[in-house]
Amino acid sequence: MNQAIDHARDLNMLQCPAPAKLNLFLHVTGRRADGYHLLQTAFQLIDRCDHLDVLRRDDGQIHRSNHIDGIPEESDLIVRAARLLQAYTASPYGAELTLHKTLPMGGGLGGGSSDAATTLIALNHLWQCGLRRKELMALGLQLGADVPFFLFGYNAFAEGVGEVLQEISTPDCWYLVIEPGVQVATPTIFSSKELTRDTKIVRITDFSGSAHKYLRNDLQTVACTLFPEVAEVIVWLGKFGNAKMTGSGACVFCDFADENSVDEVLKQVPDRWKSWKAKALSLHPMAHLVQA
Ligand code: C5P
Repeated sequence: MNQAIDHARDLNMLQCPAPAKLNLFLHVTGRRADGYHLLQTAFQLIDRCDHLDVLRRDDGQIHRSNHIDGIPEESDLIVRAARLLQAYTASPYGAELTLHKTLPMGGGLGGGSSDAATTLIALNHLWQCGLRRKELMALGLQLGADVPFFLFGYNAFAEGVGEVLQEISTPDCWYLVIEPGVQVATPTIFSSKELTRDTKIVRITDFSGSAHKYLRNDLQTVACTLFPEVAEVIVWLGKFGNAKMTGSGACVFCDFADENSVDEVLKQVPDRWKSWKAKALSLHPMAHLVQA
């Protein structure tokens, strides 16, 4: 009897990671008529994750079961993702979503987008919708420009507003990430008058080496002006390597060849900043549930 219940629970429930990303570089190359910016960027998955428990409901209702400061249930991307998939597939099922946040909001790590992508992958599976990767990515784009990347599965060179993706191979390294203690709202950075939007298109064929490390993040100058805390972290971490901001900030990262090197620097990070290490991933941990 217990075995049967356990089996039923397995079919109805998934415990899912939602990994963070780093932008190894980010160029703003133009602006579309709708205000969105054209980018070139390299997205790198790392093994620092939010976690999401997804339980299928048979009554069609969709709820988030825990309170999260600063994100009301109705505007939470995971709830919006579930409702979008339900409307698109006319699924009779619902879901109970419990989100365990590790990734900071306004950190440039793609936490909200990754949570939404993981929700789509998990519910596509539990509701047996049968959507393939391309279709999930198109749905994801309605939720945010970074969401398709988290459904794509691989590290990627991105163009368009971030949704035109090409698989890349990147170094198998470690990253040290520092949270400067400020939340950066993405629209604030993109709408700044100071932002340069005319970086020349680059053609990169090899991401496995270090060439892209020396390409900049165009959003960094604006973020550092508005948030001197970010600039301070870049100067500090820059003593140990090529320190750069990810996305529209606020987090700052630097790569290291091995875990011992990252641990050495981690010990020296001033207490006023939260810091951690993460390993580069070559594949999204939920990719096995997405059909190509
Ligand atoms: O798509 P997402 O909700 O993540 O974007 C948040 C905001 O960032 C957008 O409303 C837009 O102001 C800005 N943005 C942009 N160009 C992009 C991505 C985001 O202007 N490629």
